[in-house]
Amino acid sequence: MTIPVIAFFNNKGGVGKTSLVYHLSWMYTELGRRVLVSDLDPQANLTAAFIDEDRLEELWPDGEHPATVSGAIDPLLRGTGDILERPHLEQVGEQLYLQVGDLALARFEDELSQQWPLCLDGKERAFRVISAFWRLLQFGAEEAQAEAGGAACTRPLFSPRPQESRTHRAKVAQ
Ligand SMILES: Nc1ncnc2c1ncn2[C@@H]1O[C@H](COP(=O)(O)OP(=O)(O)O)[C@@H](O)[C@H]1O
Ligand SMILES: [Mg+2]
Repeated sequence: MTIPVIAFFNNKGGVGKTSLVYHLSWMYTELGRRVLVSDLDPQANLTAAFIDEDRLEELWPDGEHPATVSGAIDPLLRGTGDILERPHLEQVGEQLYLQVGDLALARFEDELSQQWPLCLDGKERAFRVISAFWRLLQFGAEEAQAEAGGAACTRPLFSPRPQESRTHRAKVAQ
């Protein structure tokens, strides 16, 4: 069974995505649910809202960040494997867990838009890349035994570039 995922997305900044995810996640736990929150925005504001500076320094050391969402998808980006099946979860409340955001996630955006059209050609790696965040949430939610997952992201991570968009439409029309 897959765990329901609620994605909060708007291309515009400053419209309340991060605040909504932050407050709703607490509200869901108050309704008795176990919740996993995943900060998929490279600005990582949601993470900064949940975690204090001392802990953030531990999670974001110089070099590699194995305990963040970026670290969890790193093997896929490097081409050495797939995403981590047991990504780190930071417990931030009694029934509330966070997949820690990371500025380094910005590296993933180009890869996402490049791989999107390749899914239409049936390329396996393209499907792995495009489904990486959803799978990461499912793995994390399973580990947290969560009943709901929320993800916050800013930019249109999955939108194809203009010329790829035309290719997509042409293929769909066939
Ligand atoms: N419902 C609201 N009413 C008033 N101010 C809000 C509300 N939601 C968010 N804000 C404020 O608006 C600003 C941007 O919110 P934020 O959640 O960071 O937006 P986003 O994640 O879309 O960039 C913040 O200063 C936040 O405190
Ligand atoms: Mg935000």
